[in-house]
Amino acid sequence: MKKVLILGGSGFVGLHVCEKLVAHEWHLTVLTRRMANAQNLLTLPNLTLLEVDVHDEAALTHALAGHDAVVNLVAILQGDQAQFDRVHLELPKKLARACKAAGVRKLVHLSALGANADNPQAAPSMYLRSKGAGEAALIEAAGAGLNSAFELALLRPSVIFGAEDKFLNVFAELQRVLPVMPLAGAHARFQPVWVEDVAAAVVSCLERGGMAPADAAPRILELCGPEVFELEDLVHLAAQLSGIRGGLGRPVLELPEWAGRLQARLMELAPGTPKMSRDNLDSMRVDNVASGKLPGLESLGITPSALRPIAQEYLTRNQSDHGVLGIRQRAH
Ligand SMILES: NC(=O)c1ccc[n+]([C@@H]2O[C@H](COP(=O)([O-])OP(=O)(O)OC[C@H]3O[C@@H](n4cnc5c(N)ncnc54)[C@H](OP(=O)(O)O)[C@@H]3O)[C@@H](O)[C@H]2O)c1
Repeated sequence: MKKVLILGGSGFVGLHVCEKLVAHEWHLTVLTRRMANAQNLLTLPNLTLLEVDVHDEAALTHALAGHDAVVNLVAILQGDQAQFDRVHLELPKKLARACKAAGVRKLVHLSALGANADNPQAAPSMYLRSKGAGEAALIEAAGAGLNSAFELALLRPSVIFGAEDKFLNVFAELQRVLPVMPLAGAHARFQPVWVEDVAAAVVSCLERGGMAPADAAPRILELCGPEVFELEDLVHLAAQLSGIRGGLGRPVLELPEWAGRLQARLMELAPGTPKMSRDNLDSMRVDNVASGKLPGLESLGITPSALRPIAQEYLTRNQSDHGVLGIRQRAH
């Protein structure tokens, strides 16, 4: 049985990646900062859960020993420059060094659409700049050609939808309680991709030649669904598919830039994880759609799934269960 180590396996994408890898008969080691955060994984067979500080390079190297591959799903959506750099740049650097030290030959890294390894600083937000810098560091550490230290796959998804997403579910929940939907970046464009397709891409990269051959450069894939939506359309769709106000939802109040930034600032100041930050707004300055210059899911033999039928099924269920926040409470 092949062994893979997963960082960030307890998260939204992580659960689906772990389920698929188990079904494909991998043995999994999942590292978590706190056991309580990973309770959702406890029922999976062939999975060892370890409480490890993934930012501790020695601990990471020790944990990696004996594994054939590693998948990095760790990321944060909000933070300051130092926090983004620590998670999106320093952690990948440590992981690359740990792979070399432990002799791990395959690394699959989840990045994000809009990250630019060639010119990280060209991206519009701290999130995307740090993601691009992390990609560049991994590409440099992996090397290319016969002397490459490990095979590298960089996956860049657009926004990801699925039963536990904090995207369509949040739009639906807000419209259940608010009289109007104040919305910044209403015309930002996205190409949502299903979490199961993202998980299938990770498995494919590990198993079926998704990785670059030893004599080629690291493989970079853009993971997108079949349709492009404006943010405002997705807000309407979330209400329609969950049947809020007979499917009509709430009127959308398009916020001008200054009001959107003020709203985001207030959300940052509220207790808990903010639903929106000013840096998130900065990320939306560029369309979150496939560039057309890089291979996508189809190159792995995966047909991207349409959003509507899948989202309808889980939004209806989640809304009758009082929203996704009621489904999955996690300790932080
Ligand atoms: N969700 C999307 O729409 C989307 C879109 C584009 C790209 N992506 C990328 O896909 C990957 C997975 O995303 P996701 O939505 O599954 O994320 P997620 O649900 O937030 O999970 C990320 C995991 O990373 C770990 N983590 C969080 N902060 C950390 C920190 N400061 N230090 C160390 N570990 C930390 C947590 O695990 P523990 O609590 O167990 O330690 C958490 O479960 C990320 O790289 C993300 O950027 C996601």
